[in-house]
Amino acid sequence: MFATYLPGFFAGIGAFIASSRRAEPWLAMLPADIGLFLKSARTDAKIARLRKEQGSQAAFEAAYRESDDPWVSASPRYRYQGLKYDRLVALLPATRFRYALDLGCGLGLLTQKLAARAERVLGIDIAPAAIENARRRAAGLGNVAFQAGDILNLPASLDGKFDLVVVADVLYYLSPLDEGVLESVVARIADLLTPNGTCLLANHFFFAADPDSRVSRKIHRAFEACPRFAVMSEHRRAFFLATVFSERRLRLAA
Ligand SMILES: C[S@@+](CC[C@H](N)C(=O)[O-])C[C@H]1O[C@@H](n2cnc3c(N)ncnc32)[C@H](O)[C@@H]1O
Repeated sequence: MFATYLPGFFAGIGAFIASSRRAEPWLAMLPADIGLFLKSARTDAKIARLRKEQGSQAAFEAAYRESDDPWVSASPRYRYQGLKYDRLVALLPATRFRYALDLGCGLGLLTQKLAARAERVLGIDIAPAAIENARRRAAGLGNVAFQAGDILNLPASLDGKFDLVVVADVLYYLSPLDEGVLESVVARIADLLTPNGTCLLANHFFFAADPDSRVSRKIHRAFEACPRFAVMSEHRRAFFLATVFSERRLRLAA
């Protein structure tokens, strides 16, 4: 997704820095992390190409077969992604979750961080190769499990099981991402939650006029518009947008 709008992305970086009155201390590491964004852009471009020929599952699987870390999220060379995971976990309500789900977990790096905040965590990803890799990386963690699965086709057996669902940088890959698809995915995610459960949604966000960021905004708006979710808090950070929602079946039923 990055690849198409690379010029917009760099304009976004400039605009963000220029407009940021409360520049975050870790913005200083940005020059080193530009490599991360470029490599991610290459991965996204490859996936977009392959997806047209072979479909989504095959495209993501190929990315994970070709590289151990397609978005260089685990590389010690780049700090952005690790800091972002920490920041996302810090946005969660201060409670110990019973059963957390990381949807589109990739290598399970965020899943591992969630393991410190929940009794059990399940990571699901469309690419079996990502799941194999995530299992290897989390081998020492007894409360973490992974399984292959498609957000668009999750088993009903998962419904109502999770008091936390995290969806980070996944939904903008759904194709097509029209209103109908988005509406049903949002409802499906609500189904996964226990009454009053928490959903953390995060997507990259550079600046309001950039096309990628508009897609992210559209995804967050679809959650906001769903009567089954109440917004608890919204956070705009460098370079992501995160919203914490609470499932509100109980309150609606009351
Ligand atoms: C950019 S990575 C983000 C991974 C992880 N959430 C993170 O923040 O590190 C996007 C992930 O979404 C997964 N994905 C894409 N479409 C999916 C779908 N329909 N169902 C489940 N996972 C999907 C991809 O395989 C990939 O691992």
